[in-house]
Amino acid sequence: MITVFGSINVDVVCRVARIPPPGTTVLGSDYELIPGGKGANQALAARRAGATVRLIGALGDDDISKAALTELEPGGVDLDAVTRRHGTTGVAIITVDESGENTIVVSPGANASASVAQVPTGAFSASDTLLLQMEVPHSENLAVARLANQAGARVVLSIAPFTPLTPKELGPATVIVVNEHEAADLARHLGLSARGDQAVVTALARRLDRTVIATLGPNGAVACGPQGLVQVPALPVTPVDTTGAGDTFAGVLAAFLDEGADLQTAMANAAIAGSLACTRNGAQPSFPTRDEIAAQSG
Ligand code: RIB
Repeated sequence: MITVFGSINVDVVCRVARIPPPGTTVLGSDYELIPGGKGANQALAARRAGATVRLIGALGDDDISKAALTELEPGGVDLDAVTRRHGTTGVAIITVDESGENTIVVSPGANASASVAQVPTGAFSASDTLLLQMEVPHSENLAVARLANQAGARVVLSIAPFTPLTPKELGPATVIVVNEHEAADLARHLGLSARGDQAVVTALARRLDRTVIATLGPNGAVACGPQGLVQVPALPVTPVDTTGAGDTFAGVLAAFLDEGADLQTAMANAAIAGSLACTRNGAQPSFPTRDEIAAQSG
């Protein structure tokens, strides 16, 4: 089983011809309210890939909160440990340009109050996987990770959005997932001089003594861990919206690792899923099913 402790947002999405530079105004499309948030996204991506998934997080009691669960509830993610707080729901203001690239500003709202106290007693067993990201307080991430670790569960940490963590602040996470920019930022923060994706993940894995996986957009993903270097390709797709592609990768990766797949297999399926998510609009509505992933894998 997978437990995701993390953010739940509503994405306010506006499509634009080009993302405006600072100090300028552009006209865009009608806005859409789309369920998102890195925690919720990773939970749904793992569920669509076939895993049993529990999400632990927090919503506000404002009107916009209704839009947050429209994919998670019918999607079969266990939401019993999602709480409602007085105040605003997490919201992400997103612009998407004609090439599918985006900018995202997150207003945390209730995510800032997500707490280890919400974790049900006996939540973890040795066969479980805990999936974490950086849109909730990291002190709470670490407290939840310690509970999972005490039970012998696998802990996967997605350092998104990028946060300059020390090795100690990675806690018991044994698998670290970053994108290429986050990998470079983390390497710089740790004083590593490696250049190039393979060299950077190798240096990070050695320094952190953990498996480090970097997603590389159209170039797939690369990892370094106890099994050495692993590289997998992306699908050749024309992106319409890359929002949530990294979350799709992390969720599907966790789903395959949780069912016992090796790292190469888990990454290959995660990269396919991330590519497919780029071919559709929005975060959660774009995540592929297990059958759609299988149809693309050799
Ligand atoms: O990773 C994409 C997500 O980042 C969006 O859904 C948005 O809510 C922000 O959390």
